[in-house]
Amino acid sequence: MRTSQTVVVTGGAGFIGSHTCVELLGRGYELIVIDDYSNSSPRVFSRIEEVARRPIHAVYQADIRDRHALSRVFDRHRVDAVVHFAARKAVDESTQRPVEYYDTNVGGTTALMQVMDDHDVHRLVFSSSCSIYGDADEIPLSENSPARPTNPYATSKWMCEQIVTDVCRRRPEFRVVSLRYFNPVGAHPSGLLGEDPRGHPANLMPCLAQVAIGRRANLSVFGDDYPTPDGTGIRDYIHVVDVAEAHRLALEHLHEGTGMRVFNLGTGSGASVLELVAAFGDACGRPIPCSIEGRRPGDVAALVADARVVAREWGWRPRYDLASMCRDAWRFQRLNPVGYDDLTDPVAVTVGAGVPPARAEVDQ
Ligand code: NAD
Ligand code: WQD
Repeated sequence: MRTSQTVVVTGGAGFIGSHTCVELLGRGYELIVIDDYSNSSPRVFSRIEEVARRPIHAVYQADIRDRHALSRVFDRHRVDAVVHFAARKAVDESTQRPVEYYDTNVGGTTALMQVMDDHDVHRLVFSSSCSIYGDADEIPLSENSPARPTNPYATSKWMCEQIVTDVCRRRPEFRVVSLRYFNPVGAHPSGLLGEDPRGHPANLMPCLAQVAIGRRANLSVFGDDYPTPDGTGIRDYIHVVDVAEAHRLALEHLHEGTGMRVFNLGTGSGASVLELVAAFGDACGRPIPCSIEGRRPGDVAALVADARVVAREWGWRPRYDLASMCRDAWRFQRLNPVGYDDLTDPVAVTVGAGVPPARAEVDQ
């Protein structure tokens, strides 16, 4: 289904945001991106446009907490809906800097909702996380499983869901979908887009890719004494392109139902750390050197989604398997050994190529 709707994508320069921009551009959406590049690079935009073969309508560098900057964006454009990715997401860092996490993730969401309401925009797709389930009693996890967040990052996402629920109760014109992603990994099959975290990556897949490319000597496996078949942690890895597609479906289905609706996004099957290490070794054609270390504080044994609701309601089913996730993550790493910062890459340095005059940056 093609559309001519205009969508604001906050955090659109990031990992999931950039892939979602490609998906939405491909279906005819006009996109307005807001990002402060605190965990991304504006170099990604020319790549998004190259993959999608369409321009992003406008890009604004702004902090999601800055209501004045947000208002200027909403003043300039007639916006139909918002996809809200902008947030800080490193679990460990959130335990060190809880105030910053609550400020950005919760304060950013309330600022955005206020500005949306001021401009009569009431359709929102919100990025939530499986981390809100915490240490689960039962696997797989359904949307009704109890939320027991175990760190400030997860709590901030849970708080956002509570705030949005309260807003929707009071203001029935709001239509919100909250997508609880499990472990998004992989990269666009073109090799042009992928995960390019600033600094030391916290998550398993980018660590594996950096070991495979030689940027790190070996992979630390955090714990082999979990109650799982091989003793290592089990997660529900899902290809980022499948996650991106779910956002497009969320926009298409936003008008259905009332209030905030919650959907798990996962494949429904888990892989252990050692299974992912082996799959990545197959993808890159060499074994990944590993050392077994102690458990990482705050980690849980297993998180696997029951994603039947989103399959039933929207017909969404993941298309990519674990081998494809590893193949695509490796292709991105191989073609972009230092991520988007590769200054020898002519695509990366021509920021804004093919961008229409409507594109602008908000004054800081
Ligand atoms: P990411 O860090 O790659 O993308 C987030 C984007 O938001 C970045 O471009 C960053 O620069 C921007 N941003 C951060 N703070 C901002 C601010 N104050 N103002 C404006 N922009 C800001 O992360 P991602 O993996 O693409 O995650 C996107 C969303 O999905 C986040 O809300 C995250 O919490 C959620 N999520 C991610 C995962 C995952 O494993 N990647 C899982 C569950 C939920
Ligand atoms: C996966 C497994 C680690 C790194 C977090 C958030 C979740 C979502 C994804 C945002 C675990 C093990 C890891 C390494 C390892 N993000 N591991 N060596 O912790 O499941 O999920 O990120 O919302 O909400 O909670 O993902 O990729 O960090 O870890 O052995 O160097 O890999 O112990 O078992 P996690 P992860």
